[in-house]
Amino acid sequence: MDRIRIRGGRPLSGDIPIGGAKNAALPLMAAGLLTEDRLELSNVPALADIETMAALLSQHGIAVEADGRVLRLGGRITDTEAPYDIVRKMRASVLVLGPVLARVGEARVSLPGGCAIGTRPVDLHLKGLEQMGAEIRLDAGYINASVRGRLRGATIVFPFVSVGATENLLMAACLADGRTVLANAAREPEIADLALCLRAMGAQIEGIGTDRLTIEGVDRLHGARHAIVPDRIETGTYACAAAITGGSVRLLGARLEHLGAVARTLREAGVEITEEPAGLLVRRLNGLHGVDAMTEPYPGFPTDMQAQFMVLMSVAEGAAMITETIFENRFMHVPELNRMGARINVHGASAIVRGVPALSGAPVMATDLRASVSLVLAGLAARGETVVNRVYHLDRGYEAVERKLAACGADVERDPG
Ligand code: EPZ
Repeated sequence: MDRIRIRGGRPLSGDIPIGGAKNAALPLMAAGLLTEDRLELSNVPALADIETMAALLSQHGIAVEADGRVLRLGGRITDTEAPYDIVRKMRASVLVLGPVLARVGEARVSLPGGCAIGTRPVDLHLKGLEQMGAEIRLDAGYINASVRGRLRGATIVFPFVSVGATENLLMAACLADGRTVLANAAREPEIADLALCLRAMGAQIEGIGTDRLTIEGVDRLHGARHAIVPDRIETGTYACAAAITGGSVRLLGARLEHLGAVARTLREAGVEITEEPAGLLVRRLNGLHGVDAMTEPYPGFPTDMQAQFMVLMSVAEGAAMITETIFENRFMHVPELNRMGARINVHGASAIVRGVPALSGAPVMATDLRASVSLVLAGLAARGETVVNRVYHLDRGYEAVERKLAACGADVERDPG
């Protein structure tokens, strides 16, 4: 089982290329189910989750051709089942439900189980599809969805913001009969990226980038070419790596406008972020100080940056209160960080972080994607050696993390274990 070995204490200096956003690439690949024509996606990140989604699309009968960072998808849907052994590896598989149902009138998708960070139900996805005329039956751990004729447009008001439910229903609505309104829709940049691609495929979508999406269904969608938006979470992660090591790193291809609350919070903590033609220059010139953060749907502080920011705060002057409002169990990095000498106390949905002068290296265990990268960040700053085990979590969402860090002077290597 792969692990990553880090010897900390070296300021990062150099360039880090930012890849295409994982959380845009996955729904965009599912959009390939909406047309028989060819959908060409570029700036595709090389990640385990992308391979899993490609395997799932192939299972549905879609031809998937990979050419470097370009994916070409196309073909007829010949199988409407998304089997448990694929869905259990990646919850985002549930994003094929809306497109398959909209294209062929039926779909059998394994219920995605919970995961380390929470139970992660999909009730909003299912309720929305029922409002569009689908019949949903759960049995033997599978979602059996069917609709006589076409899905019908509907006005769907989400009781709370859900990225996945917004994406599933947005894709289904493109081929429904009539108008669909998605109110209280998620506004993450990855959703705007999906909507722009759908529009290029012939979908009629208004309100892109807002919390109210209006879709006029069309009979069919055609092929398109789309470049995937840069990954704002990868950007924020490496910004924290530059900050925690007291270095200076240029994040190539990164876009400040998608960093919103993360940039504001990092700047408040003492991190300098400057826009340059090639991307963002991130430096930490003086000390870090404790700043509170609360995770919220976009444009608030993203839950996918909570663990990384907590590591930064663990070596800041003063204290920081970090509150997780999106997932019920997303503090599993805390015990591991405390083993490295951090002083973090969790009280329900909040963690109080009291800064310490330095962390000390230790063998630690990764549990989920963002928790695992936060342990790598801790290792970069810690005295001595840190070994992060179970890095398969990391490989799901971060491309060549040890190569990118080593290129900026970090003493890090992957140990096949
Ligand atoms: C997406 O997950 C992302 N994954 C997650 O990133 C991200 O943390 C999350 O959005 C929030 O931003 C992808 O895009 C592939 P939600 P998703 O539906 O769509 C509850 C990462 O690290 N909920 O916005 O599953 C849910 O349990 C991953 O890259 C329901 O109760 O998130 C959660 O508490 C982790 N019922 C909250 O809503 C539903 O039907 C937000 O979930 C749907 C969601």
